Amino acid sequence: MPANQPGILLDPTPAPMFLVLRAGESEDALRTTARVVSALPEWTAEIDMLGGGRGTLRATVAFGAEFWKRIAGDSPKRLAPLEPLDGPGGRAVATGGDVFVHLHSERRDLSIEVALRLLAELDDAAEVVEEVQGFRYLDSRDLTGFIDGTENPGADERADVALVGDEDPEFAGGSYVLAQRYVHNMRYWGRLSREEQEGAIGRMKADSEELPDDVRPATAHVSRVVIEEDGRELEIVRHSSPYADTSEQGLFFVAYCRTPVTFHKMLARMFGTSGDGLHDRLMDFTEAVSGALFFAPSEERLAALGE
Ligand code: HEM
Repeated sequence: MPANQPGILLDPTPAPMFLVLRAGESEDALRTTARVVSALPEWTAEIDMLGGGRGTLRATVAFGAEFWKRIAGDSPKRLAPLEPLDGPGGRAVATGGDVFVHLHSERRDLSIEVALRLLAELDDAAEVVEEVQGFRYLDSRDLTGFIDGTENPGADERADVALVGDEDPEFAGGSYVLAQRYVHNMRYWGRLSREEQEGAIGRMKADSEELPDDVRPATAHVSRVVIEEDGRELEIVRHSSPYADTSEQGLFFVAYCRTPVTFHKMLARMFGTSGDGLHDRLMDFTEAVSGALFFAPSEERLAALGE
């Protein structure tokens, strides 16, 4: 199988950075953007050397449906723009984007170094439409105070969950990416008791222990996103990160999967459009202000964009 972009399967890092770019309309802008971002993983490794060459600075690059089609001429079988959802759990907006850059980093200075070099090389071929600098909060908690990532697939399972295989041979080694920025209503959330918060997530706040089935509400986040089909749980590899300043706090949700269908099923159950009349209680305290679906091609296919 062609090699995947390595960042997809790594453990989360404490200073990730996420960028969504929109390329200019012209053919020239499109080609320049593709050429520059295809080389990004290579020179990210050079910048990693500035930080002592620890190999912890990695760039994963992914593309929106329209951009990929224009630049490469073909398309991963299931790549299409994200469909917005409107339900009792709120609105899952679809704000689009041509290129998604996910920087795994232990150091904020190195992430900025990569981002500034990227901007310099792009010149005016593309603009940044979303930029999030994440951080590790306490023991990997979301700003709601709950540990995020407990049930993420272990290192030995991630490739099977995240990477396209024989089902789409031209795109094997690639991965679908869902990226959404959520803004939390921290004040409203803070008014809940610990028990109410635990009921909204479905886990204990202290140690992430799952609430027993007879106690866990059907509207808990965990109850909504755990979906069993043919005796198997649908899985995704999450790389979400909290972000915050004094005016806005939330979660930048990022997940990789070998099929976007899993994202759609989870989102429908969260936002309340799956038809069972329920929605995710957590969604009453947070709002999705951006959202898009991308495809992170294999290393080979990414490199070919620059040729
Ligand atoms: C504001 C946005 C979100 C927050 C704060 C959040 C937070 C959490 C927390 C605290 C957990 C429990 C611990 C863990 O297993 O990681 C969790 C689990 C999970 N979340 Fe989310 N999440 C958010 C959005 C989403 C979205 C958009 C999806 C899918 C499209 C999703 C899918 C999952 C899955 C699959 C699990 C694991 C469930 C299990 O197997 O027990 N989450 N999330």
